[in-house]
Amino acid sequence: MTGTSTTKTVLSGIQPTGGAHLGNYLGALRWWVDFQDRYNAYYCVVDLHALTVPGEPEELRRSTLDMAALLLACGLDPDRCTLFVQSHVRQHAELAWLLQCTASMGELGRMTQFKDKAAKVGYESARAGLFTYPVLMAADILLYDTDVVPVGDDQRQHLELTRDLAQRWNARYGQTFTVPGAAIPPAGGGARIMDLQEPERKMSKSATSDAGVVYLSDDPGALQRKIKRAVTDLDPPGPGAVRWDREAKPGVSNLLELLAALRGGDPAELAKDYESYGPLKADVAAAAIEALGPVQERYRTLQADPSAVLDVLRHGAAQASAKAEETLERARRAVGLLAR
Ligand code: TYM
Repeated sequence: MTGTSTTKTVLSGIQPTGGAHLGNYLGALRWWVDFQDRYNAYYCVVDLHALTVPGEPEELRRSTLDMAALLLACGLDPDRCTLFVQSHVRQHAELAWLLQCTASMGELGRMTQFKDKAAKVGYESARAGLFTYPVLMAADILLYDTDVVPVGDDQRQHLELTRDLAQRWNARYGQTFTVPGAAIPPAGGGARIMDLQEPERKMSKSATSDAGVVYLSDDPGALQRKIKRAVTDLDPPGPGAVRWDREAKPGVSNLLELLAALRGGDPAELAKDYESYGPLKADVAAAAIEALGPVQERYRTLQADPSAVLDVLRHGAAQASAKAEETLERARRAVGLLAR
């Protein structure tokens, strides 16, 4: 739903494949829900981004619809935001091309996510789309005259690139794009949730094992098991064993951050309530079950009615397209493409 022209605009996106995890929820999705009432909000399932790595067509179709259902289950409300699938709004791909001709090879080559992902598959066989991915993300954002982009800490560099591209374009071709800012949760507030088994790595859909990744769809048994087995350290119980210290105690600090993000509060303060890891883990598990229970219940209902979810997405795409076309036309004209 679009708001008045004085309302600021927010946009964000999530990849469909692999399902959403607690990092996505705490770093981004719960803020999306919160921001619906304060901003003119656009949210998209970025299916074109999923094509940058190998996958099965049937799985992409299924996970795109599932992710949309999950976003609604988290609390996105089609009366308060515009929810759509990226590929349903063709302007994203077209603006991405114009912006590719603004971005340089050098700056794209410096993107750490590209370097990490390309290193996994080998530079020679990495898809070209993986390289240009951040430009598509910039197009997602710039098409909507976005003021604020709620994301986790791992998207910080992509956001900086988006700002650079917008500023460069505006300087070269005249004022065309709004330069967006990032809304990243505060330190300790869920901006970077770590893998429960490898607390030096961020929780990620592409982790080698699921043991350290808590999915929003995990049942209470699985949730409890994963959190109970979270890696901590060998410090003996006692005063000071449980403390907020990301360097020295990454596993424990991650559990404290999870608790703080789920229940509210400050991780360093919460630490004072514990002298050993067992009770901390039990409280984190209880908080996760409490937060995710209602989401899972709504998710099951929505999954049983895919046509209702599709209706939301179609309506969202129509709304988003109107705005996107307006911005794209401005960009086409600015860069010198002949009017049709
Ligand atoms: P994606 O799909 O990897 O993640 C979706 C959102 O979840 C956040 N996130 C995390 N937050 C805290 N801790 C973690 N461990 C964690 N893992 C992921 C991400 O920061 C993100 O906000 N490129 C984006 C998708 C995208 C996008 C956009 C985002 C495409 N176009 C336009 C904003 C605006 C991505 O791959 O997110």
